[in-house]
Amino acid sequence: MDHYCVLGNPVEHSKSPQIHARFAALTGQAISYDKQLVALDDFSDAVSRLWRSGIKGCNVTVPFKFDAFGCAHSRSSRAELAQAANTLRFDAQGIYADNTDGVGLVNDIQTNAGVDLAGRDILLIGAGGAAAGVLGPLLAAGPRRVVLANRTLQKAESLVLRHCSHHAIAPLLQNTELLAQSLQGIDGFFDVVINATASSLAGAAIPVDAGVLKPGALAYDMMYGPAAEGFLRWARDHGAQDRDGLGMLVEQAAAAFEVWRHVKPPAAQVLGEMRAALQAVAA
Ligand code: ATR
Repeated sequence: MDHYCVLGNPVEHSKSPQIHARFAALTGQAISYDKQLVALDDFSDAVSRLWRSGIKGCNVTVPFKFDAFGCAHSRSSRAELAQAANTLRFDAQGIYADNTDGVGLVNDIQTNAGVDLAGRDILLIGAGGAAAGVLGPLLAAGPRRVVLANRTLQKAESLVLRHCSHHAIAPLLQNTELLAQSLQGIDGFFDVVINATASSLAGAAIPVDAGVLKPGALAYDMMYGPAAEGFLRWARDHGAQDRDGLGMLVEQAAAAFEVWRHVKPPAAQVLGEMRAALQAVAA
């Protein structure tokens, strides 16, 4: 049986073991998956120990995604664009780093929510690690325009610059406009508005004006649970379709499972099961 785990600090609330156990059961893969709390100054040693132990891979969550990128021997384009990794695969060639957050977001929006991103106008709010992880895959979905808006404009500008100069993204920008703007200077309105800021965790106000929402827009918060509630309520109050990040969580896990096992698990089914379980608890 091959072993996997999720590394984080904190990690006790991670749903990844539950998700991967369902994927394994539904695809007939014999794997084990657990969670491991890693001390803040021990990440690279923890990864070395795991690699030596013969483990096949791990997911990496807050605050270690940048360290995970740094400790790898080889990296996917999507990890390079994010400068961060949420998935490590261990094999004879060494440690391979990937980032499945962006493809998880895009799959949830397009497949589960049924909103095609091709030709659409997208507003991505935030320029930290969460936004960096998804910008490349959003551009790859072929939107008409992506505005990256951040409280600190310079961080949005440098993220845009990194994407514009990357070989995997530059050709896509012939058909997609990519702009960095400040939160006060957002120009126009959008079909899809994605909150990738930590503002709700800090209890701060919604970082943008409701005028950014086109009628019937999809407003997506990359978080789920209480941290997403304020943004989602704001979206509903202004006529938008709201969606939390639970589907992104399941879809990024599905993409990681595929990186390790080369088998595509039924993500939509597992997402449905998780939503039903959460509703049953809430009822
Ligand atoms: P993460 O990995 O979750 O993205 P991060 O790298 O610390 O965390 O980034 C946090 C993001 O939330 C940043 O875009 C930050 O804006 P700044 O770059 O200006 O710091 C944004 N953010 C945090 N609190 C915010 C607030 N109250 N209003 C608007 N944006 C906020």
